[in-house]
Amino acid sequence: MLHAQLVAMNEALVLGALRQHELTSAAESSNVQLQKEIGDRKQAEKSLERVQAQLMDRAGQLEGLVAERTTALTATNGRLEASVDSIRKGKEEYRLLFSDSQIMQGKLSQLTRQIIMAQEEERKQISRELHDEVVQTLVGISVELAALGQGNEVGVLDLKQKIARTQRLVENSVDSVHRFARGLRPAVLDDLGLIPALLAYSKDLAERKKFKIAITAFGGVEELGGDERTALFRVAQAALSNVARHANATRVKLIISQIPGAIRMEICDDGKSFSVEKTLFSKNPKRLGLVGMRERIEMVGGSLAIESTPGSGTTVRAEIPFPPEKTKKSSRSPFAPAAPLP
Ligand SMILES: Nc1ncnc2c1ncn2[C@@H]1O[C@H](COP(=O)(O)OP(=O)(O)O)[C@@H](O)[C@H]1O
Ligand SMILES: [Mg+2]
Repeated sequence: MLHAQLVAMNEALVLGALRQHELTSAAESSNVQLQKEIGDRKQAEKSLERVQAQLMDRAGQLEGLVAERTTALTATNGRLEASVDSIRKGKEEYRLLFSDSQIMQGKLSQLTRQIIMAQEEERKQISRELHDEVVQTLVGISVELAALGQGNEVGVLDLKQKIARTQRLVENSVDSVHRFARGLRPAVLDDLGLIPALLAYSKDLAERKKFKIAITAFGGVEELGGDERTALFRVAQAALSNVARHANATRVKLIISQIPGAIRMEICDDGKSFSVEKTLFSKNPKRLGLVGMRERIEMVGGSLAIESTPGSGTTVRAEIPFPPEKTKKSSRSPFAPAAPLP
């Protein structure tokens, strides 16, 4: 009985030992399994870390790229905005230029009409003066000659008187014709120079219009080219005829002097004043005398100024570069751009 119990206990112990052995090996194998899993896990974590680092790196690169692209786009945008702006400005400028050119065209055609009208007016005046002064005198001569031809004179004295009267008429008409010729184009300007031409013109005008003209001139003015001297003569002529027609002056000074880099001509009167601004810069100029003076002087590279003050009369001042550029003197075109005064 006891033996059987011992055997049973022994069997139980053997079974227990076997069971323990089984359990131990099961625990060992699960431990191995665990170790493997831990190893795998660590491996996976390392790969994850690597991938994460790669991702970070890539993200950094992408950010850099995006920043680069954004800068480039901003610059392109700026350039586009600038070129859109400059196109807008260009359009605006074009529009202004176009409207300026239309205004200029309008002014030009108006000026052309005025020049034609002024020309016509001048022709009318020449024809009237020719008729009044020359034709009338010639008719007088013809009448005198006709009377002589009929031969009713009582004596030589009578005859001499009639001849003397006819002679005076002839002299008058010769004077008138001379004056016309001088007014149109004074030969003396080409033959003797600007100063003698101005002296002759002023003497004649002062005698007819009853005011005094005092002339002071720098002789070197004759060194100017023909175009320049003609321009000065025409300006003096127009200014003096304005004094005669509008100023009601008693004294006039015509002064030609040398100033640094230029020759200056001034015509000063002591007559009544007028608004130069309104006359010269009027949008619709009716008169061409002052405008013509300025044009003539600017055509030869000079400048013209007009001052008119109540109580002290009017001064017309023209300045032409001096000494003249010898090489350009003969070849200068009237349309060459005006050289600025020094
Ligand atoms: N020396 C002057 N004194 C007073 N008024 C003047 C003088 N010069 C010009 N003016 C005024 O300026 C106007 C314009 O002159 P201008 O252009 O020469 O034309 P015009 O002599 O044919 O009238 C004249 O009508 C006159 O009113
Ligand atoms: Mg005039």
